[in-house]
Amino acid sequence: MDKLLIRGGRPLAGEIAISGAKNAALPILCASLLSADPLQLTNVPRLRDVSTMLRLIEQMGVKVAHEGSDGVLLDSHGLDNPLAPYDMVKTMRASILVLGPLLARHGEARVSLPGGCAIGARPVEQHTRGLQAMGAEIQVEHGYIHARLGAGRRRLKGARIVTDMVTVTGTENLMMAAVLADGDTTIENAAREPEVVDLANCLISMGARISGAGSDKIRIRGVERLHAATHAVMADRIETGTYLCAAAATGGDIRLTGTSAAYLDAVVDKLLDAGCEIVAEREAIRLKAPPRLKAVSVRTSPYPAFPTDMQAQFMAVNCVAEGSAVIRETIFENRFMHAVELIRLGADIKIDASNAMVTGVERLDGATVMATDLRASASLVIAGLVAQGETLIERIYHLDRGYEGIEQKLGRLGAQVRRIR
Ligand code: EPU
Repeated sequence: MDKLLIRGGRPLAGEIAISGAKNAALPILCASLLSADPLQLTNVPRLRDVSTMLRLIEQMGVKVAHEGSDGVLLDSHGLDNPLAPYDMVKTMRASILVLGPLLARHGEARVSLPGGCAIGARPVEQHTRGLQAMGAEIQVEHGYIHARLGAGRRRLKGARIVTDMVTVTGTENLMMAAVLADGDTTIENAAREPEVVDLANCLISMGARISGAGSDKIRIRGVERLHAATHAVMADRIETGTYLCAAAATGGDIRLTGTSAAYLDAVVDKLLDAGCEIVAEREAIRLKAPPRLKAVSVRTSPYPAFPTDMQAQFMAVNCVAEGSAVIRETIFENRFMHAVELIRLGADIKIDASNAMVTGVERLDGATVMATDLRASASLVIAGLVAQGETLIERIYHLDRGYEGIEQKLGRLGAQVRRIR
């Protein structure tokens, strides 16, 4: 298993390009299942989760052709095997995103029920309940969700769905199912995440009739079929935020291109509170950090509030800031696994249920630490860049799921980072 060796203590400086968003690319790849005509995508990040999703839809009968460095052409004409097997779903929970599109286009789907995960239980009953409201018959057998159209039915039917909580992939799954349904669907309490809007924009360019994406009420008028389209995946706001945090924590000065501050207000506000200077350009962001940051408290909530996917990185930032801060996680029940690893580097963190009290220390010291999930790994990278001496991060396959070319990008910013195979 690959490891990452970081020699810390240098401020990050320079310019890098941000990749396409993992959490927009994954549902958009699934959107290709909705049409027999091709879907041409650009700005698709080269990540392990993206190749897992491509393999998953390929074994369903989708033809996948790579075009250039970030393009993919998907042809679902021959879709004939509506199955997401356990082996794939267990490595990537986002596989659940095939459920709505398969049911809508193929009339049937068998998708392994995702198990628990490192950050929480993460059930999917909102996905299945919404599909049932649209007329699907759903059974869970032998660990698989088996979804079918009701007897005599050719299409799902439009419905009013109010989800019990804000769920990102739940909203995406139901929106994709509804675009081919007979009649109108509304999804209330919908997730407002920018990735939901990017998916909606892709579906609209395929011929779907959707309004309200980006608000908590999405309206979908079902159509008989979708057509060929092209779409450029939005920039990854979490990758952007992660590099901003890395620059902030190391006292750096960086410019990120191919991205924008537009979807990062909550994160940018916290970095400004910490004492950073930030210049938002049209398609770039520049951050200059002060010699020492001030600690800032954060509370995670659905968009547009502070994202849970940036919580671990902010914990690392606070570890070396001046003063104390409280990090409150409200989305996932077990998303503090990085704290114990950060403590191994010398951080002062006390966990009390969903609150972490972080008191900044003058310095961290390199050690061997273990990555437990994607964003936890990112926080260990940030801490390793700050720490004196060498930090060895084990199990970095988590990082490869969501950060394209992380050691090359950090290298371009002057960091000393080496992958050990
Ligand atoms: N939930 C339920 N029942 C459901 C669905 C969700 O109880 O049927 C709960 C979850 O357990 C959680 C909360 O609702 O407590 C919100 O979960 P959500 O469904 O929004 O999460 P997700 O859709 O599974 C996506 C991202 C995550 C990100 C979360 C929250 C993708 C592929 N994944 O997950 O990204 O943390 O939204 O913003 O979009 C990551 O990239 O590292 C990552 C984990």
